[in-house]
Amino acid sequence: MLYLIFYLHLKAFNIKFKETGLENMVRMRRLRASSSLRDLVRETVVTTDDLVYPVFIKEGKNIKEPVASMPGIYQYSNDRFDEELERVISSGIKAILVFGIPKHKNETGSEAYNDNGVTQNIIRKIKKKAPDIILIADVCLCEYTSHGHCGIVCGREVLNDETLELLAKTSVSLAKAGADIIAPSDMMDGHVAYIRKALDITGFKNTPIMAYSAKFASGYYSPFRDAAQSAPSFGDRKTYQMDPANGREAIRECENDIAEGADIIMVKPALAYLDVIKEVSNHTNYPIAAYNVSGEYSMVKAAALNGWIDEKKVVMENLVSIKRAGAGIIITYHALDAVKWLKEA
Ligand code: PBG
Ligand code: ZN
Repeated sequence: MLYLIFYLHLKAFNIKFKETGLENMVRMRRLRASSSLRDLVRETVVTTDDLVYPVFIKEGKNIKEPVASMPGIYQYSNDRFDEELERVISSGIKAILVFGIPKHKNETGSEAYNDNGVTQNIIRKIKKKAPDIILIADVCLCEYTSHGHCGIVCGREVLNDETLELLAKTSVSLAKAGADIIAPSDMMDGHVAYIRKALDITGFKNTPIMAYSAKFASGYYSPFRDAAQSAPSFGDRKTYQMDPANGREAIRECENDIAEGADIIMVKPALAYLDVIKEVSNHTNYPIAAYNVSGEYSMVKAAALNGWIDEKKVVMENLVSIKRAGAGIIITYHALDAVKWLKEA
């Protein structure tokens, strides 16, 4: 046996290339020979225009608080946000996703639909200072409720229909403050239809809805829950967010949201769900957003800070992969870094 392996090995080694009949093989390497050629045949390019940068605004004064699990990301109070806004404007990023963190939380998350709430106030301020920035308002109750769930709670149950009313009120309040896009992330059934109706009858029929359609109950959100102080105080989100095992159900979620009037649909998280992004993009011609979430960011940052990976290479590879899978809009905490690296390239 050993002899046979040795014999085959030697024999293979002695074959002359000419004798193999491979002279006419397909030479994939031809188009990789120079950087200009590679540029010429590149299929997917991420640009600044594709990126959305999430920001956290905390109610209070003089706050610039680093988020421990997300190096480089801070909570800002309204009065300290100007420095971050300057960075966004000068980077050329055109869209930000706004998360507000209120001082006072209660059972119904009433600060979410307070016209003078933390999120409404920052939206008004940014709109005034930077009218061209697209302000996307995340609509959910978990940052505002004392129990940290994304809807009204009765016992241990998160009530669907009762929550819709509050989400609609929140959406209208945010649109009134100047939000350009309403982005419901609550995963209640019927939310897009309810919010669409509410926006239409209050004079916001031209305000688009970006629905978190296929949002999975993911372990990758935990750094965000530190940043937004929105971890549920009991149970988990599995009765409303999707089971990570379900790709076909993700298509149904997207179909439902489109039927209800969503203008943009979202898959979240991004990297562990590239197959879902691809499947959704094969299925619909609606614009697709993907959320490169907090845990995905933190893992890259942690490895980079340890010197284990090249941060720039890995980030740009992740972003181009999300776009290649079919997402034209990428929400990412890497946005400011990515823009800097795009300019260097
Ligand atoms: C609120 C919301 C969450 C995220 C965006 N909107 C957290 C959650 O559902 O627990 C996650 C974003 C991230 O991890 O970066 N519902
Ligand atoms: Zn929520």
